[in-house]
Amino acid sequence: MKMTDIIMKKRDSETLTREEIKYFVDGYSKCEIPDYQAAAFLMACYFNELSHEETKELTEAMTYSGDVVDLSPISGIKADKHSTGGVADTTTLVLAPLVAACGLKLAKMSGRGLGHTGGTLDKLESIPGVSTALTMEAFIDQVNDIGVAVMGQTMSLCPADKKMYELRDVTATVDNIPLIASSIMSKKLAAGADVIVLDVKTGSGAFMKTLDDAKRLARTMVEIGKLAGKKTVAMVTDMNQPLGRAIGNAMEVQEAIEILRGEREGDLKDVALDLASHLLVLGKKADDKVKALIMLQKAIADGSGIKKFKELVMAQGGDARAIDDFSLFDQPKIKEDYLCQKDGVLAGMDTEKLGMASSVLGAGRAEKEDPIDYAVGIWVEKRLGEPVTKGETLFKIYANDSSKIAEARKLLDEAVTISDRYDGKHQLVYAEIDMDTADEQ
Ligand code: URA
Ligand code: CA
Repeated sequence: MKMTDIIMKKRDSETLTREEIKYFVDGYSKCEIPDYQAAAFLMACYFNELSHEETKELTEAMTYSGDVVDLSPISGIKADKHSTGGVADTTTLVLAPLVAACGLKLAKMSGRGLGHTGGTLDKLESIPGVSTALTMEAFIDQVNDIGVAVMGQTMSLCPADKKMYELRDVTATVDNIPLIASSIMSKKLAAGADVIVLDVKTGSGAFMKTLDDAKRLARTMVEIGKLAGKKTVAMVTDMNQPLGRAIGNAMEVQEAIEILRGEREGDLKDVALDLASHLLVLGKKADDKVKALIMLQKAIADGSGIKKFKELVMAQGGDARAIDDFSLFDQPKIKEDYLCQKDGVLAGMDTEKLGMASSVLGAGRAEKEDPIDYAVGIWVEKRLGEPVTKGETLFKIYANDSSKIAEARKLLDEAVTISDRYDGKHQLVYAEIDMDTADEQ
């Protein structure tokens, strides 16, 4: 087999065989295929999109390019959850303890924040003492002991995806649905869970800016999960405004804690409970979503959810007193208000820019190795469609470095649209795609 022939075939819109796809993935992971051929191949895949069958083969080859986690030492059904990435999107921290409190085992491998989106690992590590660098043995023991663990993806998981993603990032081939679907699902399949719930975001703060693309990505991923024998459900949810109120690591953890204590309502709670209810149904802990939601509400009301969160924090080396006493988190030195500049309604929020505003304050990274400031971020006071008046607070800015505030303010200026009316077009949940509906167009 020759790589040039495989590139040519895809360039000419022909269908690749399983062997040809595997040849590329294996060869590229082992550095036997050079970046220039891989780049040409990915660009051919970009213009001549992979079919369902090819996408499945690519996913499988990537899944087995490294270690596949064996979760069989954990008894019962193992669940996993993934979000395509949003802003103020802390659903994992809300749902993980709740589903574990309802008896479902959650073995979660998470990522770090990059660009305008936050990452679960960074958020968790903002709790004093918490580590997410677990050995596989400790991870499995912890899920057996308390029903939930969150760790960083090991280096040996999906090496093909790591190389391909880095190359796509610098060759303008990221935004392609079959390539995104295979990238995400190869990591989920290699992580070893039996049931998977996916949260595909759409809107101004999401990868997928249009609803049609988000639905197509969701269907493609559910189809891949189904073909791999994993029970998979995807929700398509809104990212035209931050999901919660807090954008920033410690702030987001505190918001999640308030939800778990039953002190805070809103979209973040609603989406987290919706995702959690799918997990409980797939994991056979509830017969249907309605019963699952009742179980989850009970876990909030009776305190078993917040108790499970403390167990998770302690198991991963953290100081559980911080859950009851937020003064134990890193604190920002500077707190400023961002005021509304005219009367009207909040008609638009460029959510990506809001994420960037928090990131430039130090909550996120521009480069992979950049340090994070856990204390800083943006608090969002208003929701889309709310009436606003000149001089009232739209955002609270939490900072440590005053020299970064001007850039954050400029991003907030650009992000906000105040008009005399709001078209009211966004909704919280746009679609739910399960294994029976994934193949319907
Ligand atoms: N996230 C991933 O993990 N992979 C992609 O290709 C895009 C987003
Ligand atoms: Ca069908």
